[in-house]
Amino acid sequence: MQPTGQLLILGNWKMHLTQQAAGQLAATVAALKVERRVVVGVAPAFVHLPIVADMLIGSDIWLGAQTCHEQPEGAFTGDVGAPMLADMGCRFVIAGHSERRQFHHETSVQVRRKAEAAIKNGLHAVVCVGETPEQRESGTYLNVIEKQLRESLPIAGRDKLTVSYEPVWAIGTGKTATSADIEEVHRHIRTVLHDLTLRHAALGNAEVPRVLYGGSVKANNALDILTLPVVDGVLVGGASLDPSAFAAIIKAAEASASNRNKVM
Ligand code: PGA
Repeated sequence: MQPTGQLLILGNWKMHLTQQAAGQLAATVAALKVERRVVVGVAPAFVHLPIVADMLIGSDIWLGAQTCHEQPEGAFTGDVGAPMLADMGCRFVIAGHSERRQFHHETSVQVRRKAEAAIKNGLHAVVCVGETPEQRESGTYLNVIEKQLRESLPIAGRDKLTVSYEPVWAIGTGKTATSADIEEVHRHIRTVLHDLTLRHAALGNAEVPRVLYGGSVKANNALDILTLPVVDGVLVGGASLDPSAFAAIIKAAEASASNRNKVM
């Protein structure tokens, strides 16, 4: 899928919905007409993967998971391995979402192992990085993000890797980062990725991953965010549960993608 000018719009449904509601939402998303310049995916809770997979049959919408275990299988009660997700029809896995880093104490090294497990099983890994409110206020955020990137990104399989910048203070808070905030951090992320990619070019992994933004993306701010040339798509939480808001975000991506093509 790698950077082709296509924008990636991913919905993270988190721990929401009943089976029936997840199926209905998936059916609505599956029925959306999405232009080829935009790739859309949804990540329901594990228990809803089968119903959502069924509803997405015949559509181009990607099925994804919100996390995976770093090992392919074994005695890991309550966990789900990447081979199981691939078998279920998943195309992507989110790794290192701040809610996992915070509530499950996932370290960047674990996040890298999860991303590696996903890629090894043919899935795209969406690795999240982002600073806490305290780190933003103390002015250390660029260093924090750089460290997360250097520790969380897998070396192999760059063509299946996406990074998502998710400032913790903007997630679920209704506070969106400003365009200037997003540009500053995305530029820094790109510099680090460039450096890492150069360092690993000798290993044959010269692809530069896509960089998404996530954090209170809504119908009314999606166009501003997606118009930024440093943004390759968005990871949407709350608004992805509202079919009309999610559809509006996809429309914003289509509008931005068509303008980008004109510029190119
Ligand atoms: P939000 O979540 O859109 O509800 O802020 C974003 C995320 O968790 O990626």
